[in-house]
Amino acid sequence: MSDVSHKTVLSGIQPTGDIHFGNYFGAIKNWEKLQAQYKCYYSVVDYHAMTMPFTPSVLRNNTWEIVINLLAIGINPENLFIQSLVPEHAELTWIFNCYCSYGQLMRMTQFKDKTSQLKEGQKDDYISVALLDYPVLQAADVLIYKADLVPVGKDQEQHLELTRDIAQRFNFQVGKEYFSLPEPLFTETPKIRSTADPSRKMSKSAGEKHYINLFADETTIRRQIKSAVTDTGQNPGTSMAEGVQNLFELIKASENVQAYDALLQNYHQGSLKYVDLKEATADSLIATNAPFLQKKSELVANKKQIKDEIKSSSAAIRRVAQETLKEVKELVGLLNVKY
Ligand code: AMP
Ligand code: TRP
Repeated sequence: MSDVSHKTVLSGIQPTGDIHFGNYFGAIKNWEKLQAQYKCYYSVVDYHAMTMPFTPSVLRNNTWEIVINLLAIGINPENLFIQSLVPEHAELTWIFNCYCSYGQLMRMTQFKDKTSQLKEGQKDDYISVALLDYPVLQAADVLIYKADLVPVGKDQEQHLELTRDIAQRFNFQVGKEYFSLPEPLFTETPKIRSTADPSRKMSKSAGEKHYINLFADETTIRRQIKSAVTDTGQNPGTSMAEGVQNLFELIKASENVQAYDALLQNYHQGSLKYVDLKEATADSLIATNAPFLQKKSELVANKKQIKDEIKSSSAAIRRVAQETLKEVKELVGLLNVKY
């Protein structure tokens, strides 16, 4: 393993509200582990959160809320920064806009999904230019630190491909292998489904019943899992129903191996009771989040200190970004002036 430890990791999460078990098992669990091995940069991407309709005071509160949540999960404060405190990300985005085709952005699945959400929404919602440009900002997030590995959920695979395309086009046009091509890094459970509707992914944007908050209390978790959709009976006898599969995934991701093996054996023998599966799922999730709830209650008492810490880690990380931007400006023919 030591031969790869010089690699750099970057990932980001939007401050759009709660962290859910899909975020955690799909990506953030990896973030925490990778810190022991690599140089890691983790960003609360507040510029990205402005691409959909938003309220300024809510954005600011959510930014600090997600910082505390990430620290409670075990992210080291020196690895964590707030995207807008490193404005070079926005500057590099502009440069990358010139190395990315409009057609390619129009084909992004997330853009199409979010556009249709907005069309269904209120009449004063509109589709911002920033929403189309979202993946270019993401490419800037990754490449400004010359990241090699990007731990994300499966839904981000297409954005990572675009990041690689931008890096390749940039390299080609400046005639130098300046950016190396970053790879996505998935967990064993890169797609957790909504327990209310297993045909879609667990997600904040789909509405409250479509996600389970990673910081939910025991009663809420039990209630949500109790009402989880298991088998809709649409494909009888073929393969395991998506809802049932999802509960198994949640138990597996929680590393409750004993329950997982025993229940899977019951399933194969045709003796699985959904009530047992649900109870084991709820128990697993409660055991997973107990230490996070404990840590969070300690952290909220120190909000002021945490804010100061994250502002200074952002300032330190900014120096790395400034260095890259300077080199990029040189390569593309822009001026570098020291004021
Ligand atoms: P977001 O909340 O959209 O900013 O996502 C933060 C991270 O969680 C990203 O790496 C996503 O790919 C990942 N993620 C989001 N939803 C899921 C899900 N349902 N299953 C697995 N990973 C997810
Ligand atoms: N688009 C990502 C998501 O919705 C968040 C994100 C922004 C990101 N910048 C990033 C993820 C850079 C990985 C790397 O989950």
